Amino acid sequence: METYIKESEQENFKKLDVIIEEQGNEQGTLIRILKKAQDIFGYLPEHVQSHISLKLDIPISTVNGVVSFYSLFSQEKQGKYTIGVCLGTACYVKGAQDVLDAIKEELSLDVGETTLDQQFTLKATRCIGACGLAPVVMINEDVHGRLSPSDIPSLIHQYAKKTEEVIEEK
Ligand code: FES
Repeated sequence: METYIKESEQENFKKLDVIIEEQGNEQGTLIRILKKAQDIFGYLPEHVQSHISLKLDIPISTVNGVVSFYSLFSQEKQGKYTIGVCLGTACYVKGAQDVLDAIKEELSLDVGETTLDQQFTLKATRCIGACGLAPVVMINEDVHGRLSPSDIPSLIHQYAKKTEEVIEEK
């Protein structure tokens, strides 16, 4: 079976094939390859999963099982910024639900969704180990702690502004 590859993705598939060559087909390489594939494509759509399945000669159900099992992997396209609101106990007790509601309202978004302009994806996470800063929100790699709902509009604005600046610089 041939996988259909869009022209715009050919470069990405070339990079992925190099990685698959390097990793070989030993036990345990699948997760590493999936992680790198997600770094390249930004997410793991079905045609990427089936490409990996063909190259490694393992069933697509095995690949998909791993992708679905680990929350680290995403089968949906992610926004430029992923906002992860911690709903672990410490954060929850300190008002994480209100912070989450404020983000939903600010972006008109539900958990698991991405804004139409592909800027923000909203996720609920478990404890990220920064309980002393509860309630905690991660935006990509940045940790923001001790937030209240009233902090949310300016926080979101900071990131939206970064994008605008990049566009203006071009
Ligand atoms: S409970 Fe939120 S960081 Fe630990």
